[in-house]
Amino acid sequence: MRLLSQLFEQNREWAEKIKEEDPHFFEKLAVQQTPEILWIGCSDSRVPANELLGLLPGDVFVHRNVANLVIHTDFNCLSVIQYAVEVLKVKHIIVCGHYRCGGVIAAMGNQELGLIDNWIRNIKDIYYKYLNEVDAIEDEHEKQDYMCELNVLEQVTNVCYTTIVQNAWHRGQELAVHGWIYDVKDGLLQDLDITIDKLEQIPEVYLSSTKKVASARQSK
Ligand code: CO
Repeated sequence: MRLLSQLFEQNREWAEKIKEEDPHFFEKLAVQQTPEILWIGCSDSRVPANELLGLLPGDVFVHRNVANLVIHTDFNCLSVIQYAVEVLKVKHIIVCGHYRCGGVIAAMGNQELGLIDNWIRNIKDIYYKYLNEVDAIEDEHEKQDYMCELNVLEQVTNVCYTTIVQNAWHRGQELAVHGWIYDVKDGLLQDLDITIDKLEQIPEVYLSSTKKVASARQSK
């Protein structure tokens, strides 16, 4: 109980500190939020979006789940993406993975963990897809780190395969999808240089309409 009352105390101190710098900070935020970034990250307690970006409340719209997955039947994640893209009109979607991700490591093993096995099955599919490449790496940590990066790459493409993102590009909306990785050992972010910002970068199989690409090309 002492811990919880301490949290309320820390919350009051935090709010006071922000108000000292900007007395109207919370009043302004209460009216509207205008974040330019949607962050899709892992639930891991070591990877808090706002803190590691040095951003205040109102600056980043956040979705987190185990191992930062974007699954095309997950209405929770898809609803967040839709609201962020269509209502908030964010300019960037950042899928941020992290090294030493428990979800990724679990997916590379064979231990039964319960319900979550069904969630991390999605990561097993990635492991199987890149099995030769990943298993060619001898060092266990390096192998896991590489899988964490591949997982980000796959989730970036999953974001881009949604009708939400493809329709935004078709409308001419400015929107870039980035893949980043965070190192829990030093607190630093790294851009994996896999940014996708137009329909032309999407393989035809995953296009929701090939007509849209044709008309997007024409309008250039
Ligand atoms: Co994780």
